[in-house]
Amino acid sequence: MPIRRTLAALGAVLALACAVPARAQGLPPGMPGAGAIQSDAARLLPAYAPHGMVVSQEARATRVGAAILAKGGNAVDAAVAVGFALAVTLPRAGNLGGGGFMLVHLAARNETVAIDYRETAPAAASRDMFLGPDDEPDPKLSTASGRAVGVPGTVRGLAEALARYGSGRFRLADLIAPAEELARAGIRVEEDLADSLPHAAGLLGRWSSSRAVFFNGERPFAWGERLVQPDLAATLRAIAAKGPDAFYAGETARRIAAAVREAGGVMSEADLADYRVAVRAPVRGTYRGHEIVAMPPPSSGGVHLIEILNILEGYDLAAMGAGSADAIHLLAEAMKQAYADRAAYLGDPDRVRVPVRGLTAKDYAATLRARIDPARARPAEEVRPGDPLPHEPDQTTHFSVVDRDGNAVANTTTLNFSYGLGLVAAGTGVLLNNEMDDFSAKPGAQNAFGLVGGEANAVAPRARPLSSMTPTFVFRDGRLLLVTGSPGGSRIISTVLQVVTGVIDFGLSLAEAVAAPRVHHQWRPDALLVERGLSPDTLALLRARGHRVVVGSSSGSASSVMAVPGGLVGAADPRQRGTLAEGP
Ligand code: GLY
Repeated sequence: MPIRRTLAALGAVLALACAVPARAQGLPPGMPGAGAIQSDAARLLPAYAPHGMVVSQEARATRVGAAILAKGGNAVDAAVAVGFALAVTLPRAGNLGGGGFMLVHLAARNETVAIDYRETAPAAASRDMFLGPDDEPDPKLSTASGRAVGVPGTVRGLAEALARYGSGRFRLADLIAPAEELARAGIRVEEDLADSLPHAAGLLGRWSSSRAVFFNGERPFAWGERLVQPDLAATLRAIAAKGPDAFYAGETARRIAAAVREAGGVMSEADLADYRVAVRAPVRGTYRGHEIVAMPPPSSGGVHLIEILNILEGYDLAAMGAGSADAIHLLAEAMKQAYADRAAYLGDPDRVRVPVRGLTAKDYAATLRARIDPARARPAEEVRPGDPLPHEPDQTTHFSVVDRDGNAVANTTTLNFSYGLGLVAAGTGVLLNNEMDDFSAKPGAQNAFGLVGGEANAVAPRARPLSSMTPTFVFRDGRLLLVTGSPGGSRIISTVLQVVTGVIDFGLSLAEAVAAPRVHHQWRPDALLVERGLSPDTLALLRARGHRVVVGSSSGSASSVMAVPGGLVGAADPRQRGTLAEGP
């Protein structure tokens, strides 16, 4: 196992989310509905609204969505507007040149659907395209060259979501207009944009087309300066006027394919023209009387969230206490097992058979639970993928929206790394992804997040690379309780897991569950990553059980909405600057 790559990967992951002091905001006085769920942490809750809520990692985009809700839009209308706005205001993760997953809950039909707009491999992609002359994976090829770019899915994904599930009150052009205005008039560089641009100077600085957008002379734009994106505004205007074909065919497609090929990639205009969204059935499970509904493959997120919850259901976590060494030990052991299974079984369901039912079965979880020693951490070498088959027939961003009728969207979207490949296709303003690194370059090889991939996730023409993105809904008694999701590469699944267990097991308010220190174990490397904020005696107890504890910077950035008596609470993650929860 290339240790250097592992440590570099962990460093990259840690750099994706910068730890920032918590922003504690007060609730409006006299807020109704302060019941047991909110407890005395109500003062921490960032937003309360009776008729809808938008939570994203960028305040201007949140406000765009809240305005659409205020004008009578439904959750999907608002989500589409937020998605386009984030491509302008949070360019390191919001995108037109990437892909993502949108979970939509339709209250009137009591139906939840999963829209898969993940990037696909170009038709000319091949199994060994990321191997160097020594036949070993070459991370430069899969993360830093044109070969890293998957065929973007975002524009078709957002348009398809609107066409299928929008309220009908807004045209695509209406929902693109705020983003176009932000790109054309420019935005003040501040908060996360100001924090992240200096880190991306090297990545963006390699391409003159990217420097033309993000640099002021020799350096990226700095806090207080103005980022104007005229080419991106023109691309948005064209999509508004002609629909997604303005992106997937004609001049924009020609420019994107040319930029990718000039950077050493293999994408053609035909790849863009052929891109299709997939609408899938979500993956479902239960946890202590709640229904968990989450993203199915090609994301591993929903499957392993449910697998881990199934394992944990056999323990009385509440009695152990939030943040206790006992509870963290069990979380870590369950995570290890799930990430080992991920490496063995998960891939594109259109190409390989993914044993979803087996991996999410309660009796499979019971066999895995039996392997866990409550007093000792199992070394990674002892953890092997289980056998679910008999049961069978960085950077990323997440936003959550709920409307007044109870429709909801959980949307996670990504360019993979912060600012993706760093390459803007000249003349389009579109930053391109490096999502192809989410394939396994070779069975057993790690990607940039240190995740091990198997045969099921090999590169293949038109395949979708495996993801960890975990947009999630939790229902109680058939009613929507929680909408959540997060960026964080490999740590997305564990971040969502701890928001869910925080609320369900430990009775935390949403704000407490989002703010509580997180832990993460992904099997390999064999390390328990913990955020700052756990007590030294807890860490000592974990080390005594055999965990290699690594205290690092922050993990994920969960944008969450929870139903409370009388309304909705939104909690934006305090780990990143500029996040916002707001109701209409
Ligand atoms: N690129 C990160 C993920 O999809 O999981």
